[in-house]
Amino acid sequence: MDNDIEKVLYSREEIAGAAKRIGKELTHDYEGRQPLVISVLKGAIFFTVDVLKEFDCYTDIDFVDVSSYHGGTESSGKVDLVREINTDIKGRDIILIEDIIDTGRTLEYMVNLLKQGGANDIKVCTLLDKPEGRVVDIKANYVGFNVPNEFVVGYGLDYNELYRNLPYVGILKPAVYQK
Ligand code: XMP
Ligand code: MG
Repeated sequence: MDNDIEKVLYSREEIAGAAKRIGKELTHDYEGRQPLVISVLKGAIFFTVDVLKEFDCYTDIDFVDVSSYHGGTESSGKVDLVREINTDIKGRDIILIEDIIDTGRTLEYMVNLLKQGGANDIKVCTLLDKPEGRVVDIKANYVGFNVPNEFVVGYGLDYNELYRNLPYVGILKPAVYQK
């Protein structure tokens, strides 16, 4: 797999540092509360686990799965709900954990879904933020790293369902998706 990567952007150690930093910030910010963590499948699972190990708080966890890419490297612009949230979110303080925010459409869709469900408060935590890709005016509250406008894989992020298990985040060689 390493041969398909043009450049490593964030090493295993750098990512661990970011997860620890955010976990500690959350511990501070949610003191005395019991938030519900919602992790966006499948990309955010690695980051969710690492952040939660540093989050010292009573919290329950659920997952949601949305799809906007359908296997390519460009967002289709249309977001589909693949797996619903099973927890009652009414009145809950929610921490939504994402892998990456690019156009912001997925996040906008998710936030609307949570608002419709009656969430009390919604905060967004993302491993990566790609501000240059934004078409919707929406921001994350906790960001691991700001990434350049390149297609990245690893540590949960995929291309055609592969590369999620790389322990780092890197830029995929364009030759891989151009063939
Ligand atoms: P939007 O454009 O809706 O995108 O903000 C968010 C979702 O799109 C996926 N995404 C990527 N996945 N490498 C990936 O593997 C990328 O560079 C990338 N950019 C966006 C991701 O699933 C995210 O939840
Ligand atoms: Mg995703």
